[in-house]
Amino acid sequence: MKTQVGIVGAGPAGLTLANWLRKQGISSVIIEHRSREYSESRVRAGLLEQNTVDILNNLGLADRLKKEGKEHHGVHLSFDGERIRVPFGELTNGRNITIYGQQEVAKDLTDAWLAGGGQLFFEATATKIADFDTDHPSIHFEYEGEAAVLECDFVAACDGFHGLGRKTMPKGSYNEFTVTYPFSWLGILANVAPSSDELIYAYHERGFALSSSRSEKVSRLYVQCENDDTVANWSDERIWDELSIRLATPGWELKRGPIFEKSITPMRSYFIDNMQCGRLFLAGDAAHIVPPTGGKGLNLAVADVKHLVDGLTEFYKKGSTAALDSYSETALKRIWRAQDFSNFMTTLFHKQDEHGSFGYQLQKAKFDYIKRSKSYATTIAENYVGLPFEAFE
Ligand code: DHB
Repeated sequence: MKTQVGIVGAGPAGLTLANWLRKQGISSVIIEHRSREYSESRVRAGLLEQNTVDILNNLGLADRLKKEGKEHHGVHLSFDGERIRVPFGELTNGRNITIYGQQEVAKDLTDAWLAGGGQLFFEATATKIADFDTDHPSIHFEYEGEAAVLECDFVAACDGFHGLGRKTMPKGSYNEFTVTYPFSWLGILANVAPSSDELIYAYHERGFALSSSRSEKVSRLYVQCENDDTVANWSDERIWDELSIRLATPGWELKRGPIFEKSITPMRSYFIDNMQCGRLFLAGDAAHIVPPTGGKGLNLAVADVKHLVDGLTEFYKKGSTAALDSYSETALKRIWRAQDFSNFMTTLFHKQDEHGSFGYQLQKAKFDYIKRSKSYATTIAENYVGLPFEAFE
C-alpha cells in the first residue's frame, strides 16, 4: 500500500491533517489503534479557540459545529467567592472561544474523511516506523491479524502521548521537559441545563472547580481531587455539594441533575524541544501535554497540523523543504506560550498551599490585578482565545 503522507492516529491532529492535505491535493492514509466507537465516545475537553474554529470552517468541516457549538464572548473567574468577568470582544479584537466537545470534532472529521473516500484503518496497530531517515519511509502495522506495510514519502505521528511516534525518535534527538502536578480533576457530565452562560474557573480553599457545558441540556463540570482519588470516592451528592461550595457567589445557584459520566484526569505538563527527525514529524499530544486548565490541548494539536500542512504543501507544490525543515521551530513558539499559559491558569486556580501562605497570597494578588488592570486582563483574554498565527511570525 502506498500514499504520500502516512498518518498514525485518528485523533483531532491526524484527522485534521488528513482532511486538510486532501484539500491541498496530497494523499494520506490513517492508521488508528482504537475502534471507531472508542475514538468517538471518549469524553475530552470541549474548548475550541478562534483559530481552530476558523480552520475547521475554512476546510468546510464546521457545519455541525456552527449549529451545535456555543460561542462564548467572555469568561468568569472566581476567587474565594468573588466572581469577575473577562470579556473577550473588546480585549481581543472580537476573537472568541466556542464550546463543542472534542469527540464531536472527531466524529465530524471522521465522517468527512470517510465520506470523501479516505482510507482509515481502525483497530490497526502500528508496530514500526521504518526508514524515516530516507525518502521512502514506511509504517508497519497489524490489521485483522495480518502484517501490513504502508509506504509513504512522510510519516506524521499523531498518535498521542503513549504512541509509537515519539518512541521512534532517536534518543538524543530531543530534550524533554516535564512537570506533574500534585492534584487531579474529577470531571462529570450531567443531564441538567448549565448554571451559567459562560465558563466559571474558581479558586476555593477546598480546591479548584470549573463549570462548563456541552449543550442547553448537558452540563460539564470539574472539581480538583487527589492524585490517588477514585471515582468510587465521589458520590453524586458529594460532587454536587463540593461544586456548590467551590463555585458559590452571592445570588447564584448551581443547578443539579443526574450525572451520567465521571472520570479522573491527571495533570501534567510535558514537551520535547524537537518534533521531527528526517521524514518523521510529531503533532499534538505525541509531542506535548498541557494541564487541562484553559483547554489548550486540542487547539495546540490543530496548530501543529497547520504548520505541517504548510510545510508539506510547499514541498509538493514547490519542491522546497524550507518550511518542513523549520516545522519544530515554528510550532514550538506557540507550544511554549501555551505551556506557560496552561501552567499559569493551573497555578492560579488550584489549591496548593495553606490559606494565608505566601503561595496563596501570590494567587490572590494575581486575581486582584486581573480585576484592576485592563492590560493584565488583556493578557489573559488573548492567551485564552488563542493568539493569531501572525503573532508568532
Ligand atoms: C472544558 C475543559 C477545560 O479544561 C477548560 O479549561 C474549559 C472547558 C470543557 O470540557 O468544557
